[in-house]
Amino acid sequence: SPLVFSGVQPTGNLQLGNYLGAIRKFVALQESHDCIFCVVDLHALTAQLVHKDLKDQTRSIAAAFIASGIDPKKHIVFNQSAVPGHAELAWIFNCVARIGWMNRMTQFKDKAGKDRENASLGLLAYPSLMAADILLYRGTHVPVGDDQKQHLELARDIAQKFNSDFSERIAAAGLGVEMMMGEEKVNGYFPLTEPLIEGPAPRVMSLRDGTKKMSKSDPSDLSRINMTDDSDTIARKFRKAKTDPAPLPETIEGLAGRPEADNLVGIFAALADRTRQDVISEYGGRQFSEFKPVLADLAVTVLEPISAEMRRLMADPAHIDAILRDGAARANVIAERTMTDVKEIIGFV
Ligand code: TYM
Repeated sequence: SPLVFSGVQPTGNLQLGNYLGAIRKFVALQESHDCIFCVVDLHALTAQLVHKDLKDQTRSIAAAFIASGIDPKKHIVFNQSAVPGHAELAWIFNCVARIGWMNRMTQFKDKAGKDRENASLGLLAYPSLMAADILLYRGTHVPVGDDQKQHLELARDIAQKFNSDFSERIAAAGLGVEMMMGEEKVNGYFPLTEPLIEGPAPRVMSLRDGTKKMSKSDPSDLSRINMTDDSDTIARKFRKAKTDPAPLPETIEGLAGRPEADNLVGIFAALADRTRQDVISEYGGRQFSEFKPVLADLAVTVLEPISAEMRRLMADPAHIDAILRDGAARANVIAERTMTDVKEIIGFV
């Protein structure tokens, strides 16, 4: 049966890209699916080992999930390090995956930079832990931004190799589920996960440069809207957002070659739950001086109640910790079942 899994790293402030590319989709999916949402604190160690406020960062992601509307009673919200199966399955996947697969990851190349020999081994193995996150629950659907696409393809490769390397043992243990692998019908244990990337803003771009992804780590704070920005700051950042001098185009096709205009239309559509076409039909031909304040108002209307609720939740860390603990206990029940199966399949005593 379908299961949604996704994760967010507790590193730095959440920005609008995290919200529109991921969290807002989580909120919509919880109406129709069983969902597990994880604060991936083990992943936070891959780029930087020592964090001065990892606990608060972790709590603030959980607070953002809940403040955005995720119901932690109906669904599972927890932090990765509290369920030992993530690290355990990741080890097994480290032995399934090939070094060449990891070396090809663009995120690894970007994050490791020129000094690759000096990157942590964890940064290289990052996608293997990510595959373990999802497959520990045999997750079938993963809502993420466009930047995670390559990692999810790798998770499918890992599932596929595990299923085929262990196919006889999976069948012998009676643990297989019939699934399609390309044209072929096979008996696999791990599902081939599907990414959920579509929507009007799968890749929110920097407000200063429409060719660069909006990110927590951009040195310019003007490049992003933080979830915790106040309304004046949000209005100022949209006012200062880079645009070309032409008005908004009359058709979607007119956005081609205009990355900044394209980005603002996508952000508007995602915040309003409308299509880009719809936004262009209403605002095509208008000047940005007219469009930007409407966009800023819309962003404030959506984000302000969330950041107010986040502040309220963060005032009671013990309450957040209790939610995470409860989520981890429920996640662990599923995780232990999977690990029992996996150990049987591999042949551990
Ligand atoms: P992270 O913490 O970098 O980002 C969390 C989510 O936000 C999305 N995102 C964006 N979407 C659109 N436009 C942007 N500018 C933008 N910036 C960030 C990301 O795509 C992501 O969905 N590897 C993951 C965390 C992870 C995970 C998982 C996700 C670990 N295990 C298992 C799914 C399933 C990451 O670093 O996300």
